[in-house]
Amino acid sequence: MKSDNAILEVEGKRLELPIVTGTEGERAIDISRLREQTGLITLDEGYANTGSCLSRITYIDGEKGILRYRGIPIEELAEKSTFVETAYLLIYGDLPTETELKNFSNLLTQNENLHEDMRHHFEGFPYNAHPMAILSAMINASSCYYPGMEMGRPTAPFFDQHAARLISQVRTIAAYAYRKSRGLPIVYPRPSYRYTANFLHMMFSDPAEDYPLIPEAVRALDLIFILHADHEQNCSTSTVRMVASSQANLMASAAAGVCALWGSLHGGANQAVIEMLQEIHRTGDDGRRFIEAAKDRKSGRRLMGFGHRVYKNYDPRARILKKACDALFRVLQRDDPLLEIAQRLEEAALKDAYFIERKLYPNVDFYSGLIMRAIGIPVEMFTVIFAIGRMPGWIANFKEMMDDPGTRLYRPRQIYIGSTQRSYVPMEKRKGPSSSALP
Ligand code: CMC
Repeated sequence: MKSDNAILEVEGKRLELPIVTGTEGERAIDISRLREQTGLITLDEGYANTGSCLSRITYIDGEKGILRYRGIPIEELAEKSTFVETAYLLIYGDLPTETELKNFSNLLTQNENLHEDMRHHFEGFPYNAHPMAILSAMINASSCYYPGMEMGRPTAPFFDQHAARLISQVRTIAAYAYRKSRGLPIVYPRPSYRYTANFLHMMFSDPAEDYPLIPEAVRALDLIFILHADHEQNCSTSTVRMVASSQANLMASAAAGVCALWGSLHGGANQAVIEMLQEIHRTGDDGRRFIEAAKDRKSGRRLMGFGHRVYKNYDPRARILKKACDALFRVLQRDDPLLEIAQRLEEAALKDAYFIERKLYPNVDFYSGLIMRAIGIPVEMFTVIFAIGRMPGWIANFKEMMDDPGTRLYRPRQIYIGSTQRSYVPMEKRKGPSSSALP
């Protein structure tokens, strides 16, 4: 890593700030001693221009539409890898040898069952609970069942076991949550199945009849997991790092990540895309009305699955998924009016000056929902699928922090804009409406 200096002049004081350069030439001004030297902090609402860490895991060039995990282009991983192998790559830094992959897969299989007592927790949730709520609650609860959670720094010796448990069990919890929401009996994992096939088995098999696995559908879902596996310092990964920085355990940190992922501007967008397409279909709109509304700020609408904080070009994951979506629909010989609407929307938006000027392109969520719908995954499970996929990325980030002796507690500052000092006013002297309505 190269270092240089930037000059900042504040109130007549000249300051040299180091410039940090990453391996791909990305540059940042290191302001970590700014307050100490000047009394000033930087203000960057939404952290759009703030680097929160140095990381070796994932590289994105949003202008060029590049995404690489540990240096390997996402296109190559999508074509040649599996989710389990990609998870290993993200967490441990290199592609596994045959033996390493076998050992890792075995560890996942050994840890696929939940602690039997955890099954009782599922009884406590109402049948209509959102599976993301169940997922985060159950991941957090799992830290009660396994010793050695407080692993400290660096992460060995319990880390491998806990990481495997989390990757494997998030899928089991997700499938149980779905079955609970449908009032169906739980289906246990089948050790002879590979990761993604096993998930579909737990979701859709019946005690009397196995779910007929379609290889193309299994591969499409595995691909979705690969494409979601990491995305550098996004909202949920930053949340995981924020929580982990207090030295909370892996399960607590991952459960917080699930909560951050839930919202419709982040992982919840895949659900929101399908709901948007359904609405367009239901109202007989050909997409034009919706696009006009999305362009009008006052409408409160957005073209879901479009735009990204980092990508100012076509999201490379969306490109891969669009192709996979076409291929899957062909194999399944499925027609879906929502696919046609999505294709029309994309075509119209990519020609529209509003979207062109703002560099708004389809993101990963635009086509992933259509694939999941074709596989038969219900819409309320879409964000859960994202969470299963993102787990290796969260774990890799957790490990990176814990292995770095320089990691500090994450604690941003603020510029206070509230009242200046004022005195406490006794109740009888306070002025305001006499009605008991809350403000
Ligand atoms: N539809 C219509 N207008 C949009 C959209 C959209 N999807 N996205 C951004 N804009 C407009 C926005 O109104 C603003 O316009 P103006 O300059 O006139 O004020 C401009 O583009 C910049 O938007 P922003 O909200 O400042 O950009 P951001 O970087 O804060 O937001 C985003 C990024 C992803 C939250 C946003 O593009 C969005 O809401 N997209 C729809 C939700 C979505 O698809 N989210 C999934 C993201 S990919 C999965 C993941 O990694 O989480």
